[in-house]
This record gives sequence, C-alpha cells and structure tokens, in this order.
Amino acid sequence: MRIAFTGGSGKAGRHILPMLAAAGHTVLNLDLQPLQAEGVDNLICDLTDPGQVFSALSGYANFGELEPGTGVPKFDAVVHFAALARILIQPDCETYRVNTLSTYNVMEAAVKLGIPKVIFASSETTYGVCFADGTRKPEYIPVDEDHPTVPEDAYAMSKVCNEVAGRSFQQRSGIDIYGLRINNVIEPEEYETKFPAYVRDAALRERNIFAYIDVRDLGQMVMRCLETDGLGYEVFNVSNDDLSVGASNAEVRERFYPGVPVKRQMEGNETFYCNRKAKAMLGFAPEHSWRDVLGG
Ligand SMILES: NC(=O)c1ccc[n+]([C@@H]2O[C@H](COP(=O)([O-])OP(=O)(O)OC[C@H]3O[C@@H](n4cnc5c(N)ncnc54)[C@H](O)[C@@H]3O)[C@@H](O)[C@H]2O)c1
Repeated sequence: MRIAFTGGSGKAGRHILPMLAAAGHTVLNLDLQPLQAEGVDNLICDLTDPGQVFSALSGYANFGELEPGTGVPKFDAVVHFAALARILIQPDCETYRVNTLSTYNVMEAAVKLGIPKVIFASSETTYGVCFADGTRKPEYIPVDEDHPTVPEDAYAMSKVCNEVAGRSFQQRSGIDIYGLRINNVIEPEEYETKFPAYVRDAALRERNIFAYIDVRDLGQMVMRCLETDGLGYEVFNVSNDDLSVGASNAEVRERFYPGVPVKRQMEGNETFYCNRKAKAMLGFAPEHSWRDVLGG
C-alpha cells in the first residue's frame, strides 16, 4: 500500500514506520521533523495548515514515483499520529488547537482526495481517568469502548473532538475511519528502565488504568487496520493483554477499585483496559509483555 503516516518521527512512529516499510509498503512521513529510517521518506509538513495537508496528500511520496511518467499515484491510507501527545507540553489551548485542527485537516483532505482509509490516534485519556484533577475511577471495569468519554483536560478533549469529526466525515463519505484509543505506549527498552518501579508500586499506573501497549503491538494494530476494510467508523481500545504491574487483577481491584462495578469476570493478570473488540473485529493479537523481559 501507499501510506501517508503523520507524526512518524515521534515515540510510536519511529518504531511503526520501519515495520510498515519492512512489510513492503510505500511510506511517507509527514512531520515537522524528519525520521531517519530505512525505507521511509519524509516531507516536512505543518498539519495545522490545510494547504500543506492537501498538497502533501495529493503529492509524490518519493523520487522513484517520477519514473513511470504516469503522474501522481493516490494514497491508499493515511495513518494520523501527529499531535501534541499530552497536556503540559504547550499551553492547553494550543494542545487543543493543534490536535483538533491537524486531525480535521487530515480527514477533510483524505475524504476530498478520495483516500479510502484514515486510521487516527485517539487515546485512553478520552475515558477521563488519566489527566483527572485528583483520582477519578472508571465508571465500570473492564473499561471497554462503550465507557463514557467525558474527560476534563484539553488533550483528551481534543481526542474526543477528533473522534466526533471522524464519525461525521465517515458518515458523509463512506470511507473507513478507525480511531485507536491507545493506552500508554511502551518502547522495548522501557521494560528495564520503568517497569521495576511499576512492579513494586501499582499506584504508579492508576492513571493508565494499570494497562500499557508495547509499541510493536501497536504497530501490529496499525497493520491489522490497514488490512481490514469495510468497517466504516470504529474506535478500538489498544492495549496488551496483561497488567503493567506486579499485582494481580484481583489484588488491584481490591486496593484501587472497591465499589467500582465489575462488568464481567476477570482473571490472573488480565488487563482492565479491554482489547476484545480489536481482537474480534481486526484479529489483533498482541505478542509482547514486560514479563518476557523481567520475568513473571
Ligand atoms: N505515547 C503515548 O503513550 C500515547 C498514548 C495514547 C495516545 N497517543 C497518541 O499517539 C500518537 C503518537 O504518540 P507519540 O507518543 O508518538 O507522540 P510524540 O509526541 O512522540 O510524536 C508526535 C509527533 O507529531 C509531530 N507533530 C506535532 N505537531 C505537528 C504538526 N503541527 N504538524 C506535523 N507534525 C506534528 C511531532 O513533531 C512528533 O514527531 C499521538 O497522537 C498521541 O496523542 C500516545
């Protein structure tokens, strides 16, 4: 496939773009800064500028595409990961502006240029727990895609807004628009640097609903979304199967979630961040765990 990937120079993208390139896809990274990776071409593009987005998404992906002399090919998909990826990087209003405007621009251009698929990064923060003022419990566990999304912070608000835009663009155009409610992204080296503390103190992970997503499994999720057509508009939780802490599901529940309604039986180290929808609809099958690195 011919894929435009936004924000590919960031924490997630720098792992996923090489995966896509290795799988044989043509990948163009649209970002404010380039990514040096084999098989990945870069176009410096400010996605808050609609002119730049329309131009980039209707342009060549690399010099090789000049050779056939048959004009500019069409992109088969846009994977939109660019963002100010949390609060407290820039002022809240800027976080909201950049994240909503860039996503609107990408979706509008994709629809109007006839690109049949948009996969965009939403967030676990939409559920309101992550950047709450004080402690906010989920309304029920495990948290699935039906859980209310009424967050209180600018970053998560921008992601909820993007989900609304995605649903509306899909409704009018009929293209596929899939939103990924990504949990906390973990790079392989972070298992050794961060997880020993998480194993010792589960409280460190309460704002992430005790979950995580290995960046390689997030890459698999993007691949599954690229391979699966015809779902229309959908959002998917994206997480690994197990908890990011040493305590078991029952122990965490007892300590942190007394009184929180439990929707179904959970066992062992099962995550509270339900990924069953992605498994059922896309065949998502996460392969990694911090336990493979640090032991059980
Ligand atoms: N990292 C996480 O734990 C996490 C969790 C949930 C959701 N997400 C979402 O996943 C996506 C990727 O996250 P990440 O951790 O790789 O983020 P990141 O901050 O590491 O990377 C974001 C990239 O977007 C680019 N960017 C920002 N503004 C831009 C603009 N106006 N035009 C073009 N490019 C721009 C940046 O240059 C950067 O390379 C984001 O949308 C983020 O909100 C991340």
